[in-house]
Amino acid sequence: MKIIVLNGSPKGVKNVTLQYVRYLQGIHPRHELKIIHISQYIRKIENDDRYVQSIVADIRTSQGILWATPVYDLLVPANYKRFIELIAEKDSTPVFSGKYTAVLTTSIHFFDHTAHNYLRAICDDLNMKYIGSYSADRYDLLNTKEKV
Ligand SMILES: Cc1cc2nc3c(=O)[nH]c(=O)nc-3n(C[C@H](O)[C@H](O)[C@H](O)COP(=O)(O)O)c2cc1C
Repeated sequence: MKIIVLNGSPKGVKNVTLQYVRYLQGIHPRHELKIIHISQYIRKIENDDRYVQSIVADIRTSQGILWATPVYDLLVPANYKRFIELIAEKDSTPVFSGKYTAVLTTSIHFFDHTAHNYLRAICDDLNMKYIGSYSADRYDLLNTKEKV
């Protein structure tokens, strides 16, 4: 399966959320995860329609979308919210319709539920097939022992 990962961290490749995506890729090597750095390149997404078209094309040819983002200020980063606005502004909502989707966040579990509720509502608005969400702690991948 080709899965598009919409990375919400503005920190580029050196961010916690992306390490969880890489972990997922490691345990599911038969699936192709294509990562798009949404928050880091939000200005390019706002201003470069050819770049937006390439994102839309990737989404069109994918079988699923993973919203992977940190929780910032009780929600998702502002640039990620801006991207969600741009989906409608650039008439790109149809490409999301009917796609399987899931949400992955990293946080310190402070109001992570508001971010999850928000993204769930966005998936519903976009008429996506929402299959679930996971809220990872930012240090989970450093834990060597299983919690009981
Ligand atoms: C500006 C800022 C705001 C944050 N706000 C929250 C928050 O409201 N709730 C929470 O649980 N964690 C919050 N965090 C912690 C981050 O969600 C957590 O460190 C996350 O793993 C960072 O992911 P990243 O490295 O992919 O950006 C915040 C971190 C930053 C830098």
